[in-house]
Amino acid sequence: MKKKELIKKIKILGPWFQTIELEKGIVTTDIYPTSKRGKRLNSGDIFWPQLRGILPLSLKNKKILELGPDAGLFCVRAALEGASVVGVDKDDKCIKQAEFIKKYFEEKYGKNLDVKYVRGKIEDIIDMRLGKFDIVLACAVLHCMVPRQKTVEKKRQRKIQLAKTLCKISDTIIIREKEKYITGRIEKSLYEDRRLDIFTNEFEKEGFEKILETKKHLNRIVVVYSKKDK
Ligand SMILES: C[S@@+](CC[C@H](N)C(=O)[O-])C[C@H]1O[C@@H](n2cnc3c(N)ncnc32)[C@H](O)[C@@H]1O
Repeated sequence: MKKKELIKKIKILGPWFQTIELEKGIVTTDIYPTSKRGKRLNSGDIFWPQLRGILPLSLKNKKILELGPDAGLFCVRAALEGASVVGVDKDDKCIKQAEFIKKYFEEKYGKNLDVKYVRGKIEDIIDMRLGKFDIVLACAVLHCMVPRQKTVEKKRQRKIQLAKTLCKISDTIIIREKEKYITGRIEKSLYEDRRLDIFTNEFEKEGFEKILETKKHLNRIVVVYSKKDK
């Protein structure tokens, strides 16, 4: 694709949350950023090197489920190394960006990538029958989940249900969030349904243990949960 066309396409598909440099000097968030201040956000190319360091050495034939992939850079990067990836996102705009990024990388590297995007809410993956995965990746997405249920208790139950489902479909769950969401230090009364403790408590109950917690990097931490004695 010619540079002019590429820039036009990026403008049409924007605004962009993930920073992705498609060609030298052509960066999604420089052309049409989500941030009103025009800043590059802490994701996409900016986070991939750290995430890659946490993932297994070889991704060949690994099955990965990404919750809320946005423009799908991590899906595509993993697939370029031989992984088979499914991304579930509720947002049409994100799915369109992700399909574009996938096609762009396929053309750039001259190979088909095993990435499938499903439009839907992560709270509904229970009904999607997606199969089993080696890794579930949830970056900056679990705190977004706002189940339709009206009462706090019903919302809590929906999150517990999702946590249980994740434990059934994978032995490894990787979460990236702002530290406060992970440790749950936000005022309970205000943000009960945004806290991640519901997830982390449930993972522990289901026999998972925290095997890695990174230091804060780019204002976020990454935690890896793995099933004990797997
Ligand atoms: C803040 S972005 C993070 C994107 C990506 N994971 C990253 O770290 O670059 C949140 C993403 O999750 C998606 N999302 C938010 N809530 C969701 C839900 N309940 N179900 C599915 N996708 C959701 C959004 O559409 C968006 O793509």
